[in-house]
Amino acid sequence: MKTLSGCTPIDTIEKMQTREARIGIIGMGYVGLPLALLFSEERFRVTGFDTDPAKVSALNAGKSYIVRIAPETISKAQEAGFRATADYAEIGQMDAVIICVPTPLDEHNDPDLSYVKGTVGSIAPHVREGQLIVLESTTYPGTTEEIVIPILEAGNPHGLKAACNNQQTGFHVCFSPEREDPGNDSVARVDIPKVVGGCGPVAVELATAMYSTIFRRVVPVSSTSVAEMTKLLENIYRCVNIALVNELKQLCMRMGIDIHEVIDAARTKPFGFQAFYPGPGLGGHCIPIDPFYLSWKAREFDFRTRFIELAGELNSRMPYFVVDHVANGLNVQSKCLNGSKILVLGLAYKRDIDDLRESPSLTIIELLRARGANVAYNDPYFPTVGHGRHYDLNMVSTPLEQIEDFDATVIVTDHSSYDYRAIVEKSKLVVDTRNATKGIQSAKIVRC
Ligand SMILES: NC(=O)c1ccc[n+]([C@@H]2O[C@H](COP(=O)([O-])OP(=O)(O)OC[C@H]3O[C@@H](n4cnc5c(N)ncnc54)[C@H](O)[C@@H]3O)[C@@H](O)[C@H]2O)c1
Repeated sequence: MKTLSGCTPIDTIEKMQTREARIGIIGMGYVGLPLALLFSEERFRVTGFDTDPAKVSALNAGKSYIVRIAPETISKAQEAGFRATADYAEIGQMDAVIICVPTPLDEHNDPDLSYVKGTVGSIAPHVREGQLIVLESTTYPGTTEEIVIPILEAGNPHGLKAACNNQQTGFHVCFSPEREDPGNDSVARVDIPKVVGGCGPVAVELATAMYSTIFRRVVPVSSTSVAEMTKLLENIYRCVNIALVNELKQLCMRMGIDIHEVIDAARTKPFGFQAFYPGPGLGGHCIPIDPFYLSWKAREFDFRTRFIELAGELNSRMPYFVVDHVANGLNVQSKCLNGSKILVLGLAYKRDIDDLRESPSLTIIELLRARGANVAYNDPYFPTVGHGRHYDLNMVSTPLEQIEDFDATVIVTDHSSYDYRAIVEKSKLVVDTRNATKGIQSAKIVRC
């Protein structure tokens, strides 16, 4: 099948294998940038597209804005031809385009696909014959075929169509979920199998050829919807299991049982059990959000996803639970929350990362403030915090040397750089939501 551009799928596969293929990645965030660097390591010439001019100039100056990515990695990628741009006209030069833009919820907790739609609308005029377009942003089943392909087809001035089914010409479209777990170094990124679902067999073949260059295993599935649903199943599984341990933690506390000891014992079972840990609530751009993409879509099929809703309810109650325990801990010391000075440790949604999206710390700070507390925070990854979609804090990180000035220290994120023994020693009261003080005996500690 020779295409108008003169490039057959076999030619493109060869270009992938010889690293001559040009790869464009849209969205230079927590997902897109590391992906661009993986392809660059494999000597592909990668172009990163982003609408944020600050990110484009930082990358072109060889700088990194993600803590775990060293600037040297960016400069090394530049040597392999990596550069960033905001100019979508360059899309036409790419053999493959991978979309990694945000998929948040709107104010009604419904999917906000505006970033995906905006991106697809902007690339549509430049999409060419034989090109591979892959959506990696997490979304509900049906997005690729119901939203992405129609926008690409409608916006293409040459009337190109997606080469689904047995169509001879057109562009190729896949969905391939991103499965990265920031801060988790136990599995190398190349060892995380890459699931790919395509609109037609050629699309899957092309995507398999591309991803096989950077992932050890590619897992083809029969459709884009299966690939979309796979990612949601993975995240719903985590969300529901976290809600389960969060609920059991509350029961265990009433019964005087340490839930962490129970989990540690249960995880010695070599089959049928996977450990999940309770905490102050969900955070990040995935687990608190993705399940609701499916609940929303399920309504179209007159179906209620009750596990997702229950898990959402339980997990979103956790920051309130933490604040109640701060108040209880102060009460034991004959103090009240109103007027107390509280130091929240950790803004990031989990240990050792510089991402505070949907972080429970933000909610806890707001709830403490609403009950009259004077709140400060410390986080080595965030010297300052301004305002975002769901918060307006405008605060500066308080040095840990001032810990003695506070009535209570609340451990919300268990960064590994913290010296928990010293924190307990210097604090008047410690509310530990992460079991970070495990093994430390002190009447000052409230574990919740
Ligand atoms: N962060 C994770 O750990 C993770 C893991 C798995 C999947 N995901 C999914 O990957 C997707 C991206 O997440 P992320 O964490 O990288 O988001 P992010 O906010 O870190 O990055 C998105 C980037 O896209 C850019 N952008 C927005 N609109 C654009 C447009 N129209 N054109 C070009 N660039 C645009 C933004 O400026 C930003 O740099 C989401 O769907 C998310 O659910 C994230």
